[in-house]
Order: sequence, then C-alpha cells, then structure tokens
Amino acid sequence: MEITDFPKLNLSNLPTPLTRLERISQYLNHNIYIKRDDLTGFCFGGNKTRKLDYLIAEAVEKGYDSLIAVGAYQSNFCRMAAGAGTATGLEVHLVLGGAKDPAKATGNLLLDTILGVTIHKVYDSDWDVWTEAALSLQQELIDSGKKPYYLPIGGSVPVGVLGYINGLKEILDQSKRMGIEIDKIIHASSSGGTQAGLVLGKQIYKWPGEIIGIGVAKNEVQLNSEIRELCNSTSEMLGFKFHNEGINVDCSYLGDEYGARTDEASEAIELFAQKEGIFLDNVYTGKAAAGLIDYAKKNRFKQNENILFLHTGGNIELFE
Ligand SMILES: Cc1ncc(COP(=O)(O)O)c(C=O)c1O
Repeated sequence: MEITDFPKLNLSNLPTPLTRLERISQYLNHNIYIKRDDLTGFCFGGNKTRKLDYLIAEAVEKGYDSLIAVGAYQSNFCRMAAGAGTATGLEVHLVLGGAKDPAKATGNLLLDTILGVTIHKVYDSDWDVWTEAALSLQQELIDSGKKPYYLPIGGSVPVGVLGYINGLKEILDQSKRMGIEIDKIIHASSSGGTQAGLVLGKQIYKWPGEIIGIGVAKNEVQLNSEIRELCNSTSEMLGFKFHNEGINVDCSYLGDEYGARTDEASEAIELFAQKEGIFLDNVYTGKAAAGLIDYAKKNRFKQNENILFLHTGGNIELFE
C-alpha cells in the first residue's frame, strides 16, 4: 500500500515553517535551522497532529464510535487526541497517569477538562500500569456495546508513523526551495513514532543526512529497539523492507527520569525564548535543545553543516 492510499484528516496546518535561527546560530557558531512543528495548529499543535491526521481518519473510516488515549497528566498527545476525537464526534476517554493526583488541573490537563472528555486517573508513574488500565477500560466499553478505537502511548503505531514519513518529505522539499541542504535533524524522542517516521522517510527519499533522537523517557537500548520495531512494522504495512539503518538515539540529556527537570533544559528554554522568541518545554523540546546546544558547543557538528532542530511542540507544559 502507498501512503496516499491511507485515509487522512487535515488537522495539521501544513507545511509548518522552516527557518534559520539567526541569533542562536551566531551564539553557537553553527548553522542552526528550526522546523516549527509546534505550529501545526490544531488544539495548540505539536508533532502529534501529524500522527492523528492518519489515526483518527482510520477510526472514522472503520466505524469506531469512541476513542481511548493513554498518557501522563500533562500528555500533549492526549490533549490533541481528545480534541481530534471530539471534533470528529467520537466519545473520548483519556487514561491519564502519574504518581499523585494533581491538586489543580493546569496545562494540558486543564485543556482536557475544557474539551469535556472523560478522564480516568491512574495513581502510578509506571507506563505499563496506565496501559493495563486502558486495556481493561477498552474491554469494559466493548462489553457495554461500544466500539472503542485504542491509541497507545504517543500514538506510536504504524498508521501514526506515516505522519513523519511525510514530515521528512516536507523538510526536504522546503530546504530544496530555500537552496540549502539539511545535514542533521535533531529532535525529542519518546514513544519513537516521530523518529521511526523520519528514519523511514530517510530511506524512502534517499536522504543522506543523519537523524538524532534525543531520548527523554527510556534508556537507549529500549528506545532504539522500539524505533526499529516500528520501522519494521510500518515498512511491512507499506510493502517494503526496512534497511535497518539510521536509528541514532542519545539519552544523555534525560536527567533522572521522564519529566524530571534538568538545569540544561531550563537553560535551553531560556536561550530559545530570549534569543528567538520561541518557547520550548521541560519534558521534551527543552531536553532536545539541551542536546543540540551541547553538540554544538562540543563541536560534534561540523562547521559547514546545516543542523535542523525539529520543534515538536509541548509548550503548554510551561503552564503546569
Ligand atoms: C512535545 C513532544 N515532543 C516530542 C515527543 C516525542 O514524540 P514520540 O513519542 O513520537 O517519540 C512528544 C511525545 O509525546 C511530545 O509531546
């Protein structure tokens, strides 16, 4: 099957801008560009709308009547999934987890509340426990006669991965129009779907550059193997073989755990805001930008290379 054979919504406002970060380039003494996927628009935007364009279209086409999405209280994915499900007439259930009940609904959780979806809280920080709760909710809904569409953490399933195969093509088309060649793309990687799409796009469009996923949730072995699995299952769905090349993850900027604040991310957030007027977040893009800054300062990028920071959104978290 070709990508164009899959049903697709147009929640994402595309193409998102690709521009040069003049003041950060000057400060880091490297050529730094940004792809503004924080500006995909729908429900405050972010990388997940590219996945949801395909996922929700599949749910609608296959006649599902309800939706279950799983994530942390401040999940960007769940916020956008809730909006997409609501806007297409699905009954939305969010299974949201974390060690303790947030005293007040802020940030993404506040937006979920305004969207009016049903929230099921799981008082545990273990992602597997959230998934178990979501699967038992799925069974309950089926038993009550519903047909729920299940979205795992981050929407990282083959149909969702299609969004970032297109994302890579969009980057290649834009950079060509600008008369530049991007050598490296660096971005936050968590459930792996974004990176899997980029890596498959690299193979499909024969882009010689490098993709660096800054891991913000898991260890390198686990993240690498999850991305590989997604690349294999997505390429199988599309009818070609994944060459098993180009998966590059670096979890050095994760800090103590998923969501834990780091000084490097805080500095990156301030740098992007103060030099470029661009907001990042503490959980994803701040850590990815901390990686970008560190690589540049340690000259792990070559002087003449064009580096693209993929801004995946998430800045609602600043209002937590
Ligand atoms: C803002 C932001 N950036 C990056 C990611 C990572 O994307 P993926 O889960 O596809 O690896 C997420 C996932 O939740 C996110 O919300």
